[in-house]
Amino acid sequence: MKIIILFVMIIIISACSKPEEQSTTALVLSEINGAVLWERISTEAEYKTYAFWPDHEDIQPGQSPHGAYHKIYINKVLSEALPSMDKVLPEGSIIVKENLDSQKSLDAITVMVKVKDYNPEAGDWFWAKYTPLGEILAEGTPVGCISCHQGMDDNDYIIVRPLDLEI
Ligand code: HEC
Repeated sequence: MKIIILFVMIIIISACSKPEEQSTTALVLSEINGAVLWERISTEAEYKTYAFWPDHEDIQPGQSPHGAYHKIYINKVLSEALPSMDKVLPEGSIIVKENLDSQKSLDAITVMVKVKDYNPEAGDWFWAKYTPLGEILAEGTPVGCISCHQGMDDNDYIIVRPLDLEI
C-alpha cells in the first residue's frame, strides 16, 4: 500500500514540475530572422520553460512603451552568465518579455537574442516583436527598440536590472 502511495506521489510531482529547457545551439548570423527566432522560442526550446529574470519573477509592473505588466524570461545561457561582472552577455543569450495589458492579458512578445557579429555597433542583439500568435511586428535592428535601450549601452542594452547585480 505504502509503495502505491509513493508511486502515485511521484507521478503527481513529476506531472506538476516545470519541463526542462531543451538544450540548443546558439542561433548564428547566417540563419537569424524573425521566423527562425520564433521557432526557437516557441518550439525548439519553448520560452515558458526558461527561468524568470532573477529577483523579478512572474508578473511584474512594467513601463511604457511595453505595457502595464510584464514577465521576463531568460534562457539558460543567460541565466548561467549572471551576475556578469563585465556586463556583456554571451552569444546565444535570449530574453523573452511578455507584454501584458492592464487586464494582465498578453498583448505582445518582445525578444532580444545575442548573435555573434550580428550588429557589433549595438551589442550584437537581434530584436523582435511578435503578436501572441507569433506574427512578426518588428525584427532585426529596429531603430525604435535600439534608440530607447541605447541609454543602457553600458549594461549591454538591458534595462530591467544591472547585469552585475548579485542576488
Ligand atoms: C521608449 C523606450 C523603449 C522602447 C522603444 C523599447 N523598449 Fe524594451 N524596455 C524598455 C524598458 C523601460 C524596459 C524595462 C522593463 C519595463 O519596465 O517594462 C524594457 C525591457 C525590454 C526587454 C527585457 C530586457 C531589458 O532590457 O530589461 C526586452 C526583451 C525588450 N525591452 C525588448 C524590446 C524590443 C524588441 C523593442 C522594440 C520592438 C523595445 N524593447 C522597445 C523600454 C523600451
